[in-house]
Amino acid sequence: MPGSIVVGTQWGDEGKGRIVDIVAKECQHVVRYQGGHNAGHTIVVDSETFALQLIPSGVLYEHVTPIIGNGVVINPWVLIDEIDMLASRGVDCGRLMLSPAAHLVLPYHQIADELAEAQRGDAKLGTTKRGIGPAYADKAARVGLRVEDLLEPMTLRSRLLSVLADRNAYLQRVYDHPGVDPDELADQLITEVAPRLAPLVADTVGWLHEALHAGERVLFEGAQATFLDLDHGTYPFVTSSNPVAGFALVGSGIGPGAIDQVIGIAKAYTTRVGSGPFVTELHGETGEHLRDRGAEYGTNTNRPRRCGWFDAVMGRQAVRLNACTEIALTKLDVLDELDTIKVCVAYEVDGHRYDYLPHLRSLHDRAVPVYATLPGWKTPLDKVTQRWQLPRQAVDYIVFLERQLGLPIRYVCVGPGREQYIRFAA
Ligand code: IMP
Repeated sequence: MPGSIVVGTQWGDEGKGRIVDIVAKECQHVVRYQGGHNAGHTIVVDSETFALQLIPSGVLYEHVTPIIGNGVVINPWVLIDEIDMLASRGVDCGRLMLSPAAHLVLPYHQIADELAEAQRGDAKLGTTKRGIGPAYADKAARVGLRVEDLLEPMTLRSRLLSVLADRNAYLQRVYDHPGVDPDELADQLITEVAPRLAPLVADTVGWLHEALHAGERVLFEGAQATFLDLDHGTYPFVTSSNPVAGFALVGSGIGPGAIDQVIGIAKAYTTRVGSGPFVTELHGETGEHLRDRGAEYGTNTNRPRRCGWFDAVMGRQAVRLNACTEIALTKLDVLDELDTIKVCVAYEVDGHRYDYLPHLRSLHDRAVPVYATLPGWKTPLDKVTQRWQLPRQAVDYIVFLERQLGLPIRYVCVGPGREQYIRFAA
């Protein structure tokens, strides 16, 4: 069946929104399957920039039905602002569908996230402080509020009263925080939020099954990335959901047979926001050069991103974990001015060589990168639209990465504009 997944192969910010925008041209439905407004997907259309946090990037095409699946956590006010922002710029969100089983991120989640981070001090995780972790924790503890609760005011109020009795006691006792008034929050949800979002609630599972059976292409848009995955990432410096491709099934309610394409998105170098291990991190001039040229500052939080060389060990692990069928390489133009470019081809730990990520955190923490050095191309790539126009050194870099990852690179992005990419034949 015609299902495609787009998944980040690094620590996020690979430019997934860009690739979703390209691939969505040929899809009828685009689904977000996990994460929340900790994500920030940027798309540039005719020099207009759209920054999306919750709505699938495919919304910019009129022929696409954007769907927010059950695996997503939704801050309803952020979603409403995003709908209004798009409407004010001529993009209609009337066809957006919300899963009734998606959970809500509410003010007490955000408060808990902020206070917990502050309390961790130097050991902080570097979360986006959006309340994502506490919302998923409530989901697992079976006390979360779901989108469907917006349709039933009485149930919503009583569930809020019950969960806030517990959450407020915790906030007061542990953090000396006054907590959140349950009635006030219930009133806001019932009067401000429900009238806006209730009309968008739909049977997203049924819709997707019918679409897939009818042969319509569905694109599953991952947020965050493989190494921020709760199970497979650099725990505990991870997000609270599962960005890996396998979760596209759980987070939207389809089975494995529906997927015939998994596009792994990799930036031509590596970045990371927040704390945690980063084997190829660059601390000096080259790292700053990448940050400046690549505008590597968080879309949402504006935090400077940590920058480093491409890590093929992580890349190979991501290809395995997601069963990628192809790669899209983004931001190749950021490397334009470099004399030489390094790629980490293996890790060395205590005299042992690792081609895949070591299975123990303690080994990963001590890993030393083994680099291959390639010549730079020292030519601007931003106007290149065909493979034959690329300088030889750039082609060599792409081919080197293909060999390292064992997969073809199908798209190469050379600038932020919607048309600034090269498509390689299958
Ligand atoms: P949380 O998702 O806000 O709980 O943050 C957990 C970790 O994931 C932190 O290191 C964040 O910086 C990182 N993170 C969360 N969302 C994104 C994203 O969309 N791009 C990059 N990093 C992210």
